[in-house]
Amino acid sequence: MGDTVFLNGEFMPRSRARISPDDRGFLFGDGLYEVTPAYGGRFLALDRHLARLRRGTRELRMAFPQGLEELHRELLRRNDLEDEEMSIVYLQVTRGTAPRSHAFPDPPVPATVYGWAKAFRRPTREAWEKGFSAVSVPDRRWARADLKTVQLLPQVLAQQTAREGAATDALLVRDGLALEGAHNNVFFVFGDTLATHPASNQILPGITREIVLEVAREEGITVEERPVTLAEAQRASEIFFTGTTTEVRPTVRLDGRPVGDGAVGPMTRRLQQAFLGRVNEECGAAVT
Ligand code: PDD
Repeated sequence: MGDTVFLNGEFMPRSRARISPDDRGFLFGDGLYEVTPAYGGRFLALDRHLARLRRGTRELRMAFPQGLEELHRELLRRNDLEDEEMSIVYLQVTRGTAPRSHAFPDPPVPATVYGWAKAFRRPTREAWEKGFSAVSVPDRRWARADLKTVQLLPQVLAQQTAREGAATDALLVRDGLALEGAHNNVFFVFGDTLATHPASNQILPGITREIVLEVAREEGITVEERPVTLAEAQRASEIFFTGTTTEVRPTVRLDGRPVGDGAVGPMTRRLQQAFLGRVNEECGAAVT
């Protein structure tokens, strides 16, 4: 499998890719990114990922690069990923390269556009059936968690805390509310009801979250987009995280205690099936 990346208008081997030390992504974290999944070489909801990126560029007053859809397809082609069960494309756009000064470069400089693609190994059925664990971590992010910026230090530290606690996911908690994961959204089951934090400036509006909400409603499940406290989360009968690389991931232990009866629950199973059903429908894939 090749390792061809895209940087500033050119495809090249990763080993040849160079950015300037004055890139504003490097100096200030002044940039945005997206991670988009493809199944069997077909993207899931690429339009929604690009719409989120477009909104980000508007909010941060950055230019939105042209030709991103074709760039995504070309990255899959050039890396021989069109037959992979699952692959991901990473795309990063920064405000460009200019001598260090906090305010925007004046006149503006071209954006830096960087992209790569790789195969992604989904968890085995055994691992999924066993379930995963999470730890709660204070949310130390800025007030615009709805923007997918490359400033990820709080998420990096939270994920490291999870790893050191031998957990898969970090549950970010702010003002007593269980908001989302370090790189995924979170859902809770209370009785027959599914709950997740509403889309606000405090969470990233995940595309997988949106799809899971759609399939849950199609399934006739009662859905509440509302704040959930950590205390409530500790009493949920089921917890799962959602995201591009997370899909629908069951959490069977939170902070060392079992979630519900400590096994993967029926609502999580149903939504995992419904989510994969949507994947197969949209991507013409046969993932299970
Ligand atoms: N993470 N919340 C946060 C904080 C995220 O970083 C992500 C995505 C999500 C889920 O969004 P989506 O369903 O659109 O992937 C929620 C990406 C995949 C990452 O950082 O690698």
